[in-house]
Amino acid sequence: MMKYRLFTIPLALLLACSAERPVTSTSRAFEGSLGTPPPKAAAPKLARYAMVVSAHPEASRIGTQILQRGGNAYDAAVAVQFALAVALPAAGNIGGGGFLLYRDRNGSAGSLDFRETAPAAASRDMYLDKQGNVVPGLSTAGPLAVGTPGTVAGMVALHKLMGKLSWPALLQPAVALATRGFPLTAKEAAGLNKTRVDFEKYNPGNVPAYVRPGGGDWQPGDTLRLPELARTLTRIRDQGRAGFYRGETARLLLNEMKRAGGLVSQADLDSYRAKWREPLRGRYRDYDVITMAPPSSGGVALLQMLQMLEPVDLAQAGYHTPLAVHYITEAERRVYADRATYLGDPDFGLVPIQKLLDVDYNRQRAGTMRSRGRATPSSDIVAGANLPSYESNETTHFSIIDALGNAVSCTTTLNGGYGSKVVVPGAGFLLNNEMDDFSVKAGTPNAYGLTGGTANSIAPGKRMLSSMTPTILTHNGKVALVTGTPGGSTIITSVLQSILGIVDYGLNAQQVVTAPRLHHQWMPDLLDVEAGALLPVAQDTLRARGYQLNPALPWGRLDIIHVQPDGTLEGGADPRGDDTALGY
Ligand code: GLY
Repeated sequence: MMKYRLFTIPLALLLACSAERPVTSTSRAFEGSLGTPPPKAAAPKLARYAMVVSAHPEASRIGTQILQRGGNAYDAAVAVQFALAVALPAAGNIGGGGFLLYRDRNGSAGSLDFRETAPAAASRDMYLDKQGNVVPGLSTAGPLAVGTPGTVAGMVALHKLMGKLSWPALLQPAVALATRGFPLTAKEAAGLNKTRVDFEKYNPGNVPAYVRPGGGDWQPGDTLRLPELARTLTRIRDQGRAGFYRGETARLLLNEMKRAGGLVSQADLDSYRAKWREPLRGRYRDYDVITMAPPSSGGVALLQMLQMLEPVDLAQAGYHTPLAVHYITEAERRVYADRATYLGDPDFGLVPIQKLLDVDYNRQRAGTMRSRGRATPSSDIVAGANLPSYESNETTHFSIIDALGNAVSCTTTLNGGYGSKVVVPGAGFLLNNEMDDFSVKAGTPNAYGLTGGTANSIAPGKRMLSSMTPTILTHNGKVALVTGTPGGSTIITSVLQSILGIVDYGLNAQQVVTAPRLHHQWMPDLLDVEAGALLPVAQDTLRARGYQLNPALPWGRLDIIHVQPDGTLEGGADPRGDDTALGY
């Protein structure tokens, strides 16, 4: 496992490296009065032995039942993943991909990459017209947006190596859920209603079960039944990998590719492999940090930011004070400037991980922070010519700890909400639009208004860069925090804030996930501010120091487990969604 030492330098030295005078203790005391108190009323879910925190109550219930029946955290992860494919159509999936990080009770850790791949027929310029311009919408919806799905291969690989219960026992709850149906939450009903036009557009002649039978809007509490998906899950239950990548399911998927003009072929399905990868390791204060390696950009960026922040006494700077926001934002700005320039699929080119996680490199980067809490304009940050690609919010994360102490942190995605909006006729599952996570054209804004670099250009069989950042912290050799979230490029900064909330500010797990968040990604040079994250006076102070504030709608769904010093499990389920912590 790669291990990267985090540096420790006194705040004074960091500030001495700055071009201007350091913040004085008097001004720091003034800063403290500008802090936003963290949410007080947020009470975490507590459990003695085991816990599941996921984006849907049905998935958390199914995962907890698997644990109570003697399954381990890996069994529960498989069951939760397939349950989310039923109960959370916006992001749960069998037609997408993801990353799973684990730390077992004996202290070893590993990660599984089941990210989608570009089909063999894909090419660098496939989303450009003859003039070399990006064709709007081609990479974001419809059949050409689809990468070869990885989720089923990932779950099979996980179960084969780590599972304890039988494969059919882990699939059956999802089969039953899809067959009997489940009540829609208000949020899911609204999401399906909003997407109805796209479902109709991208599924001509095949009205998917996600469109309300008989027309009209779904209402909260309506039952969503998914009989075609139930049959597909039954085939996966009975045949394992072949139940998805071969036989009837593959035939239906390939029929749709042929009908609609998609690129995924039987050869793509046959050659798809989930990959076990060495996680990245770092240290933050007295915690060991285990996180995801490329093709996630998140792990590298997270460790870089923690390296930059370690010399800063954030607790002394205060919670969401302008000074603390300055340090965090400046670290984010610098790290995101590196992200797209250097990161991509490590199997397709050199990713300079050693350099990016070098102590001296990040010390030098942090040393360019300006003093007196002032912003460095993003245009002054030296980085490559390219900007990060931006992924949508519609991903999902779950965290699990079992009674033996095994821990799983897993983030999976279709990319956009309901992915490509293509539902495989007869098979009932949504296909991803993950191809948009590639840079469709270097230097040209993608669907989310940002651009990407050549390290992340399209090539057959290549994995597109991701921000998914499943992460586990240990303290004195024991699991202390399992964390992760959806949220596209905001994933990395939300995971960072979850770590700072626990380690620096002593918040409980529910306070951490409830607290309004902040986000900066270098370009555009904006500090996204969720409502309630900053006092008005703190906002004024930051503006006066050169920050451009951007009031933003809520983002991310942090689902975390914090282990208290006496071993009690403390679950934080993000109130922005239907997320639920259950345990026993
Ligand atoms: N599609 C979201 C991500 O992989 O970061």
